[in-house]
Amino acid sequence: MGELTGLFRPGSLAVIGASRARGKIGNAIMRNIIESGYQGKIYPINPKEKEIEGLTSYPSIGAVPGDVDMAVISVPASKVLVAAGECGEKGVKALTVITAGFKETGKEGLDLEKKLLKTCHCYGMQMLGPNCVGLLDTHTPINASFAATFPIKGDIAFLSQSGAILLAILDWSSAAGLGFSKVVSLGNKADLSEIDFIQDAANDPYTRVILCYIEDIVDGARFLEVAGQAARKKPVIVLKSGVSQAGAQAASSHTGALAGSDLAYTTAFAQCGIIRARSMTELFDLAMAFSKSVIPAGNRVAIVTNSGGPGIIATDNVEQKGLAMARFDKKTIEDMRANLPQEAGIYNPVDVLGDAGVERFEFALEKVMIDPNVDSVLFLLCPTAVTRPVEISQTLIRVRDAHPDKPVFAAYTGGKCLAEGVEILSSAGIPCFTFPEPAIECIRGLYNYSLYRRGAETAENGVSVKPDKKTVKAVFYDVIKDRRLTLMGSEAAEVASAYGIPAAPVILTTNPEEAVAAAGELGYPVVLKVASPKIMHKTDVGGVKIGIQTPEEVRLAFIEIMESVHRYLPKVIIYGIEVQKMMPKGTELIVGMTRDVQFGPLIAFGLGGIYVNLFKDVAFRLADGLTGTRQIEEMLTETKAYTLLRGYRGESPRDIAAVVDVIRRTARLVTDFPEINEIDINPLFAYEKGLSALDIKITIS
Ligand code: ACO
Repeated sequence: MGELTGLFRPGSLAVIGASRARGKIGNAIMRNIIESGYQGKIYPINPKEKEIEGLTSYPSIGAVPGDVDMAVISVPASKVLVAAGECGEKGVKALTVITAGFKETGKEGLDLEKKLLKTCHCYGMQMLGPNCVGLLDTHTPINASFAATFPIKGDIAFLSQSGAILLAILDWSSAAGLGFSKVVSLGNKADLSEIDFIQDAANDPYTRVILCYIEDIVDGARFLEVAGQAARKKPVIVLKSGVSQAGAQAASSHTGALAGSDLAYTTAFAQCGIIRARSMTELFDLAMAFSKSVIPAGNRVAIVTNSGGPGIIATDNVEQKGLAMARFDKKTIEDMRANLPQEAGIYNPVDVLGDAGVERFEFALEKVMIDPNVDSVLFLLCPTAVTRPVEISQTLIRVRDAHPDKPVFAAYTGGKCLAEGVEILSSAGIPCFTFPEPAIECIRGLYNYSLYRRGAETAENGVSVKPDKKTVKAVFYDVIKDRRLTLMGSEAAEVASAYGIPAAPVILTTNPEEAVAAAGELGYPVVLKVASPKIMHKTDVGGVKIGIQTPEEVRLAFIEIMESVHRYLPKVIIYGIEVQKMMPKGTELIVGMTRDVQFGPLIAFGLGGIYVNLFKDVAFRLADGLTGTRQIEEMLTETKAYTLLRGYRGESPRDIAAVVDVIRRTARLVTDFPEINEIDINPLFAYEKGLSALDIKITIS
């Protein structure tokens, strides 16, 4: 999609369905355009009227004397197609279709929407909507919408799939002092979608923060590409309601079962640097934080308060959210000790006590602001009989202005007594909340984004993996020829080995003597496992024998497995028995892959073994681009398995570099072969040196 100049900066625009009647949408749009101060030509179109809102009205767009860049269509659905065709003939560049009654109403509406889109494509017109509130841009300025409020000029671009949410937010934002650069109601997204508008906002010099409310993402891969690129330039904050279809997918692997439906979004967003808001409140808190605050240099938070309770709650919350309470510099502590009352808290949190006057607040705030061990400051205020919120707010603003590089957040816990102080802070651009938790959430959001930006800047390309694709193709060919979708252990091991994943060698045998020969080739002790694409949990049907030391034991185990499996599952197809070298026990891990319908393959890493689903100690990443060592190590650190790998309770550390390598290779394998549906490598034994993949399950589609 090209630039969106036709929509945001049209030289001229027509309103098809403009009306003189107050209270009608066609009239509200006309008035909004005029009142926004739009400088281009405005052409009302109405078959009956000569003049609307003081402007000459035309019976059709064809009758307009000059060029028209954008047309806002607000006529009933049955008339939209003809109107759009006339716009095309006129050479209009872009349409904003307000009208409802399209795909949201069912099959007939969908057909109509398809025809409308075809008309747009036919004439090369861009289209916003249908079924939308319209758009506005405070810098052009233009208000081609039927919103009741035109927002304050600002630097937030807000894209919303819900018209109602957009209207509510516009109304609320003026009071909250939040300014917007652009606001777009996405409607049915028949043509232009959030992807186009995110791309546009990323390049817009007036936009510092991109805010989205989205209900569905049609092209997940493209969304991540565009939003990820945008996030490298400016924060992209998304509230995504609804869940992906992945959850509905029948998951036959452990990895699939672990990756809940919503997880794909969390993983994908985090990996692309998109900040995910969990609620409407959080969406706008974060918008406020990113719009008004600087980014902290680190995660060390200082708290200054006039009461103990909120200080303790905030301290807990800082730690729960993965931030750190700053440990003050010696000088700060000495100064605090010398100047604050004896009862005051001089370590973090600093408690200046309930009787604090403005000077005490100022002193403590100034000290923490200049402390080199502090990255951001949270100021908590409770109303006491001697608290002077107005003066205290003015003091906080003074201190912030003197040290503009450190973010300052406030939580004024109270109501009427503190209202004026809150107002003063808001007008000065210091985000102020009623309770500490949302303020801390904002600091976390800012800090995480700073990490992403730093990571993106120093991103490494990763070590290249040299795969043997031919072998993998040949295995898949045989499996499909055999009318199967599940690979047998020996086949899966071959595929894994072709990508350098250290699979313990497996030989498929069809009778006891072949099994004995295989065991001789691999070396004792060995493990025997039933080979059947239909049996997922072999141990449950007596299909596994471990620790086999001699040829006699091999023969016996072969027969016992066959008998047992036939007893449990008389009709199951058995391909034979797989003989595998018995590997020494290592730290049990899982590496796996499941495919999300929106975002493609997700790689899982965590604690392996039979309790995988019980402990759910797993971290996920998108396979696409999962190459960098630092990136993968970060994934490992999200799990408890990582503590084991580093050497728990005197045990020697495991080969973390080899684990990183297996994850990288698995990511490459599933990216190269989209036909791989799911993979489970479980257990993957980690040793002091090297790894061994004991059981590998691969299904293809
Ligand atoms: N060209 C130009 N003007 C025309 C044409 C035409 N071909 N045909 C009719 N008109 C005029 C009409 O005469 C009328 O003008 P008038 O007031 O002078 O009589 C005007 O266009 C509008 O036509 P109406 O038939 O009166 O239609 P109405 O205004 O009642 O409804 C509307 C049109 C608003 C587009 C309606 O069909 C609709 O879709 N409403 C829902 C909009 C909506 O909710 N969008 C989604 C937003 S999301 C959210 O809000 C939560």
